[in-house]
Amino acid sequence: MERISCRRLAVFVLVITLLVHQTKGLNIEGQHLLDIKSKLGDKFNNLGNWNPNDSAPCGWIGVNCTNDSNDPVVWSLDLSSMNLSGYLSPSIGGLVHLTHLNLSFNELSRSIPKEIGNCSSLVVLALNNNKFEANIPKELGKLSFLTTLNIYNNRLSGPFPNEIGNLSSLSQLVAYSNNISGSLPRSLGNLTRLISFRAGQNLISGSLPPEIGGCESLGLLGLAQNSLTGEVPKEIGRLKSLTDMILWGNQLSGDVPKELGNCSSLEIVALYDNKLVGAIPKELGNLKSLKNLYIYRNGLNGTIPREIGNLSLAIEIDFSENELTGRIPVEFCRISGLQLLHLFENQLTGVIPVELTALKNLTKLDLSINLLTGAIPSGFQYMTKLDSLLLFNNSLIGSIPQGLGVYSQLWLLDLSINSLTGKIPRNLCKNGNLSFLNLGSNKLTGNIPTGVTNCKTLLQLRLAGNSFTGSFPSNLCKLEDLYAVELDQNKLSGSIPSGIGKCYALQRLHLSDNYFTDELPREVGNLSNLVILNVSSNFLNGRIPTGIFNCKMLQRLDLSRNKFSGALPPEIGSLSQLELLKLSENELSGNVPVQLGNLSRLTELQMGGNSFSGGIPAELGGLSSLQIALNLSYNNLSGAIPPELGNLVLLEYLLLNNNNLSGEIPESFQKLSSLLGCNFSDNDLIGPIPSLPLFQNMPVTSFFGNKGLCGKPVRECNPPTSSLPFPQDTSNKSTRLGKIVAITAAVIGGVSLVLILVIIYFMRHPVETVTPLQDKPTSSTVSDIYFPPKEGFTFRDLVVATANFDERFVIGSGACGFSKASLHDADNYMV
Ligand SMILES: *[C@@H]1O[C@H](CO)[C@@H](O)[C@H](O)[C@H]1NC(C)=O
Ligand SMILES: *[C@@H]1O[C@H](CO)[C@@H](O)[C@H](O)[C@H]1NC(C)=O
Ligand SMILES: *[C@@H]1O[C@H](CO)[C@@H](O)[C@H](O)[C@H]1NC(C)=O
Ligand SMILES: *[C@@H]1O[C@H](CO)[C@@H](O)[C@H](O)[C@H]1NC(C)=O
Ligand SMILES: *[C@@H]1O[C@H](CO)[C@@H](O)[C@H](O)[C@H]1NC(C)=O
Ligand SMILES: *[C@@H]1O[C@H](CO)[C@@H](O)[C@H](O)[C@H]1NC(C)=O
Ligand SMILES: *[C@@H]1O[C@H](CO)[C@@H](O)[C@H](O)[C@H]1NC(C)=O
Ligand SMILES: *[C@@H]1O[C@H](CO)[C@@H](O)[C@H](O)[C@H]1NC(C)=O
Ligand SMILES: *[C@@H]1O[C@H](CO)[C@@H](O)[C@H](O)[C@H]1NC(C)=O
Ligand SMILES: *[C@@H]1O[C@H](CO)[C@@H](O)[C@H](O)[C@H]1NC(C)=O
Ligand SMILES: *[C@@H]1O[C@H](CO)[C@@H](O)[C@H](O)[C@H]1NC(C)=O
Ligand SMILES: *[C@@H]1O[C@H](CO)[C@@H](O)[C@H](O)[C@H]1NC(C)=O
Repeated sequence: MERISCRRLAVFVLVITLLVHQTKGLNIEGQHLLDIKSKLGDKFNNLGNWNPNDSAPCGWIGVNCTNDSNDPVVWSLDLSSMNLSGYLSPSIGGLVHLTHLNLSFNELSRSIPKEIGNCSSLVVLALNNNKFEANIPKELGKLSFLTTLNIYNNRLSGPFPNEIGNLSSLSQLVAYSNNISGSLPRSLGNLTRLISFRAGQNLISGSLPPEIGGCESLGLLGLAQNSLTGEVPKEIGRLKSLTDMILWGNQLSGDVPKELGNCSSLEIVALYDNKLVGAIPKELGNLKSLKNLYIYRNGLNGTIPREIGNLSLAIEIDFSENELTGRIPVEFCRISGLQLLHLFENQLTGVIPVELTALKNLTKLDLSINLLTGAIPSGFQYMTKLDSLLLFNNSLIGSIPQGLGVYSQLWLLDLSINSLTGKIPRNLCKNGNLSFLNLGSNKLTGNIPTGVTNCKTLLQLRLAGNSFTGSFPSNLCKLEDLYAVELDQNKLSGSIPSGIGKCYALQRLHLSDNYFTDELPREVGNLSNLVILNVSSNFLNGRIPTGIFNCKMLQRLDLSRNKFSGALPPEIGSLSQLELLKLSENELSGNVPVQLGNLSRLTELQMGGNSFSGGIPAELGGLSSLQIALNLSYNNLSGAIPPELGNLVLLEYLLLNNNNLSGEIPESFQKLSSLLGCNFSDNDLIGPIPSLPLFQNMPVTSFFGNKGLCGKPVRECNPPTSSLPFPQDTSNKSTRLGKIVAITAAVIGGVSLVLILVIIYFMRHPVETVTPLQDKPTSSTVSDIYFPPKEGFTFRDLVVATANFDERFVIGSGACGFSKASLHDADNYMV
């Protein structure tokens, strides 16, 4: 016993000695700091002077002590921006005198240690811009002196702890860009000194608690890009100091509370991208300090209140993408400093108030996609600040104010899809700023003025769907930045000038449905950025210029409905980006080049209505993206249908009719599970129709005019094979007759087969007429099977498909109009 206690004593003495020795060396706070350092990666040795031999850490980098020379304690620790990795040791809890802790802009990971709650003197805690993860420790709630809590730009998850409401000194809580979830604790309402609460870009759900109204000092409420639901509580009206209300990008529903009108300090209201409904409260007109009001992309209805005109300091107002009705209130004209007014995509009616032209500072006006009528007020031409004017997709009539562009730095003009008449104003580009011009789908006439075709700043020229006359404006070819030219559906004539090859930036060239003649100049091959070329429905002739195969970026090539002749060069196979190839209704001849099989991105191949001969290359079966259509109809193709076409499992329409194809429809066609329609008529095909349900439900005309096709939907095969089961409900009479007919056909051969098919046809469809057979395939019926609806309405697809377009300007433009989303200056407003 004695010996044991002696040993215990010895150990005890040793420990004491060590401790005494230690305290003689580095003090206890220094030891805590060394432990903290030991958990950090410090690859730049920024903490190199943290010397264990010192008696106190006060001279260490990042460490500041109190001035009390007797017993200095660590007052602040600033290790920000030191490239530190590792994690924060729980020893931080030992620094009980710490008032400032700044660890921001490092790469610290793992969780925030709960021991931080022991640093009960903390006033400022900055942990932002690290990789902290896991929950926000509830122990933070013990820091009753804390005024600033910065935890933004981390990977924190879980909810805000209830205890956050105990931080009674807190004035700044910044937690944006984390993975914080759950709903906001009601205790937040206890934070009466809170000035700035920013928690955007998280996963916060639930509703905004009404208790928020208790945060009577709140100036900035930022909760954008979360998953908040429910209504905006009317208690928000108690926040008399609120200047910035940033709640966009949530799922807030219900009305915009009229109490918002009591938040008399408000300068910025960003409620866009929510599910708010009901009317815009007239009380908003009370917000005398309001500068920016964004409530777009919601479900607001009713009319815009006249009181909006009381927002005398407003600079930007955006109510677009709602369901607002009624007229545009003339009271807008009282907001003399207004720079941006977006009311697009609503159901506004009436005329554009001429009073708007009094807004001398108005820079951006977008009233597109409404039901506006009447003329464009001529006063717009005198608005000296106006740079973007978008009125597309309304029912506007009359002419375009001819002085537009004379007095302002016009940058963007989109008046498309209206019923405007007259000519294009000559001075649109007078001040050398016009970049986007879209006047498509109107009733404009005359020539394209040189003031436009000489415009060096032009990027997009979109004039499709008017009645413009004259020749191709060759000045255009000198515009170095021009990347989209849409002149289709006009009355332009003459030849396409060889100078076109100088439009190096050109990505989109639409010239279809005009009266262009002569050959397509081979200089087209210089357009190495070209993504879309559409010259369909003109009178172009000669060969397809081989230069075109230098345009390696081409995704859509439409040469259809011209008079191109000669062979399709094998180089077509080098256009590897091609997604659409339309050559239909020309006079092309020769073989279908096997190289077409290289076009692995092709989704639609239209070659109908030419004089292609020879066989269908088996390589076409390798077009694995082919989905919309494969149309080889109305040619002189012969030989068997290659079974490889059965590999086109995405294909929806397969048209092989009106050729000289022979042999059987390959059994492999049973794999064509996406097929919606097909046509094999007027060939020399024989044998059983594969038992694809689609084939059996196809109109019988799809198989007409062949030598000996059998099986559903035409006559039964003889002998019926087990792979072609006939449904039992087939009428006895027709089946029997079908058998007889089949036998007869087998006996007398192909000569009378068409007649027999006609008989069967009548038996099955007694009411239908034979007109489909009698009709000579005119040009128009041929074109019906080219599925034009897929084209022309695919602008969105096109944008997606053509990643090399400048997406900033095209996204959201829809089938027709100009980009709108891109014009929201408020998008990505602070979170
Ligand atoms: C601390 O003191 C010991 C012994 O006096 C010495 O060996 C060591 O180098 C010192 N360490 C530093 C970092 O100065
Ligand atoms: C430490 O305190 C001194 C004076 O009190 C100040 O100049 C210095 O910036 C402080 N350093 C840190 C890291 O807080
Ligand atoms: C130390 O004393 C100076 C001058 O008296 C003062 O400005 C400073 O704030 C003090 N620092 C701390 C950490 O108390
Ligand atoms: C942090 O790292 C960057 C790049 O790795 C370096 O340029 C910078 O000087 C480092 N800063 C410090 C304080 O170590
Ligand atoms: C934190 O304080 C509690 C008591 O308030 C104490 O038990 C605990 O040891 C302290 N932790 C640290 C790391 O100092
Ligand atoms: C923390 O340090 C960073 C970088 O030095 C600085 O920008 C920031 O203002 C500091 N934060 C606080 C709350 O003092
Ligand atoms: C927060 O304060 C309440 C009283 O207001 C108290 O009951 C609770 O224990 C406190 N929580 C923490 C974590 O300090
Ligand atoms: C946030 O959570 C999502 C899934 O819940 C995860 O995919 C993502 O990586 C997380 N982000 C961060 C920064 O931890
Ligand atoms: C803090 O908020 C909670 C929940 O809203 C409430 O029950 C509590 O009384 C509040 N505490 C103080 C001190 O206001
Ligand atoms: C708004 O203010 C009016 C008077 O200014 C007052 O009657 C009303 O109660 C207030 N509403 C809210 C929600 O604060
Ligand atoms: C607005 O929509 C709500 C339903 O969301 C409907 O009850 C109300 O009648 C509508 N108001 C108008 C003016 O259309
Ligand atoms: C219009 O803009 C100019 C310059 O930006 C500014 O000085 C002027 O005050 C604005 N007018 C109004 C009425 O706000």
